Amino acid sequence: MGLKRPLIFLGPPGAGKGTQARRLSEMYHVPHLSTGDMLRDHVSRGTDLGRKAKPIMDRGELVPDEIVLGIVGERIGRPDCAHGFLLDGFPRTMPQAQKLDEILEKRRFRKPLAVNFLVDHDVLVRRVAGRRVCSVGGEIYNVHELPPGQDGKCLLDGGALIQRSDDRAEVVLDRLAAFERQTRPLIEYYRSTGDLEEVDGSASVEDVRKKLLEIFAEHSVDGHCA
Ligand code: AP5
Repeated sequence: MGLKRPLIFLGPPGAGKGTQARRLSEMYHVPHLSTGDMLRDHVSRGTDLGRKAKPIMDRGELVPDEIVLGIVGERIGRPDCAHGFLLDGFPRTMPQAQKLDEILEKRRFRKPLAVNFLVDHDVLVRRVAGRRVCSVGGEIYNVHELPPGQDGKCLLDGGALIQRSDDRAEVVLDRLAAFERQTRPLIEYYRSTGDLEEVDGSASVEDVRKKLLEIFAEHSVDGHCA
C-alpha cells in the first residue's frame, strides 16, 4: 500500500499522535516521521545536534526551526518516502508549515492532509505523566490506561520501559503552553486551505483508529503519493 497524500498529525503533547502513527504507518507501509523521535535519537547518540536540542527539549520549548527543517528535509528525500509518509509532531510553527509546503511542491507530492487530535487538558496531563516507552522498539504504554506486561517489560520485545525526561510534571505545562502559542495557529492555517480534519482523541485507541480510517477513506488517501 502507500499514501496518496502525506499525513500530518497535529495536537498537544499526550494527544495520542505517536500511538496512532506507529500503527497506521505499519498498516500503510509508509515511514512514520516523528521529529520528537528523531531529536531524541540525536540526543541519545550524543551528536552536536543532540547536544544543542537536549536542554531545549528538557525545558519543554521548541527546538529552532532551522534544526528541525534540516532533519525533516533530509528524511523526506530518502527513497522510502517516495510512496508517502506520516508526519507526527511536524510542522509545529508557521515557518515549518510554509517550508513543508515548499518541500512537498518541489518533490511533486500532493497537498498534505492534517488531522488535529482534540483532547482535554486534564486528560493530556494524566496521559503524559503515565507514559512509558520501550527503550528497544519505542512501543508506547501508559501505566493508567495501556499497561505493559506484569513484569513491567515491553509486550512486543521484552525491552525495559523508560519515562521521557520531558514527561516530568513541571515540564508538561510548558510543553502545553508552547503548543498553544506556536502550534495552534497551524490548525487555522490547514483549515483555511481545506486540508484539516479533527478527531476526538479522548476516545479509546481502537475508536480513534477507526475514526482516522473513516477520515482517510473520505479523502481517498490510500494509494501512491507522487
Ligand atoms: P514530541 O516527541 O513530538 O512530543 P509531543 O508532540 O509533545 O507529543 P507526545 O509524544 O508527548 O504525545 P503524543 O500525542 O505522541 O501521545 P502518545 O501517543 O505518546 O516532541 C518532544 C519535544 O521535541 C518537543 O517538546 C520539542 O522540544 C521537540 N520537537 C519535536 N518536534 C519538533 C518540531 N517540529 N519543532 C520544534 N521542536 C520539536 O500518547 C501519550 C500517552 O497516552 C501514552 O502513554 C499512550 O499510551 C496514551 N494514549 C494514547 N492514546 C490513548 C487513548 N486513545 N486512550 C488512552 N490512552 C492513550
